[in-house]
Amino acid sequence: MTQSTSRNDRIGEVILDLQHISLAFGGVKALTDISFDVREHEIRAIIGPNGAGKSSMLNVINGVYTPQQGEIRLHGEQFRRMTPRRAAEMGVARTFQNLALFKGMSVLDNIMAGRNLRMTSSLFAQAIRLGPAAREEMQHRQFVENIIDFLEIQAFRKTPVGRLPYGLQKRVDLGRALAMEPRILLLDEPMAGMNIEEKQDMSRFILDVNDEFGTTIVLIEHDMGVVMDISDRVVVLDYGKKIGDGEPEAVRANEDVVRAYLGVAH
Ligand SMILES: Nc1ncnc2c1ncn2[C@@H]1O[C@H](COP(=O)(O)OP(=O)(O)O)[C@@H](O)[C@H]1O
Ligand SMILES: [Mg+2]
Repeated sequence: MTQSTSRNDRIGEVILDLQHISLAFGGVKALTDISFDVREHEIRAIIGPNGAGKSSMLNVINGVYTPQQGEIRLHGEQFRRMTPRRAAEMGVARTFQNLALFKGMSVLDNIMAGRNLRMTSSLFAQAIRLGPAAREEMQHRQFVENIIDFLEIQAFRKTPVGRLPYGLQKRVDLGRALAMEPRILLLDEPMAGMNIEEKQDMSRFILDVNDEFGTTIVLIEHDMGVVMDISDRVVVLDYGKKIGDGEPEAVRANEDVVRAYLGVAH
């Protein structure tokens, strides 16, 4: 547990604060009056049964869904409406429950695509500041190569993503998000469908991203072992309501949580 202790020492102020968020799709209440916060450098898990509203919550944070009620405070700025563009500019990136990669493109090009996404807002300004486009392209390539080294996928850099095993595709998706140099990284079930060894690898990469880059992480995960191992605090959702919030051990002992989630086999 030394790792989580040293990480705890580095956890800072609240940088993301969700306040009374309610979101409905027609008659379906996906989220009802959800409040929780995320501290700088924290690994914050969101757990709950299928349909609990976990992915919707991430979509509220990154501005893809606009809640009917509630506000978001991000890096000290208060938002009634977040937009995907504003979230990206403020350093929020995400990975997807169902991979959003270009299967026919190489690992390198997929991660480069993530890099380009980050650049679109200031592309023109940068072209002027940095001079020739070729030089800029080279700097981005170098950055992407560093991510590829970090994720230990050098051997597959030219391989079309669709040909890689699922566990490696998830790692490439992480790389695509890292290429945006996020301050807050939203991970939607990064270990879904993985075997034990792949889960251990992914857990290690998530911890390394958190430690080495200081990235704050919001993580949706079903595997309670993983959640207990790597998260600092856990939010529990059930039918769109928050039924638990706290350190992993406390959440695991919470009766409502046990009834709603932990007792149920998945
Ligand atoms: N775009 C959408 N349109 C309609 N209903 C949605 C949409 N997204 C999510 N929902 C509904 O909201 C509820 C929560 O879904 P979701 O956030 O995906 O849960 P989880 O990720 O916890 O499995 C579900 O009932 C789901 O069907
Ligand atoms: Mg989901």
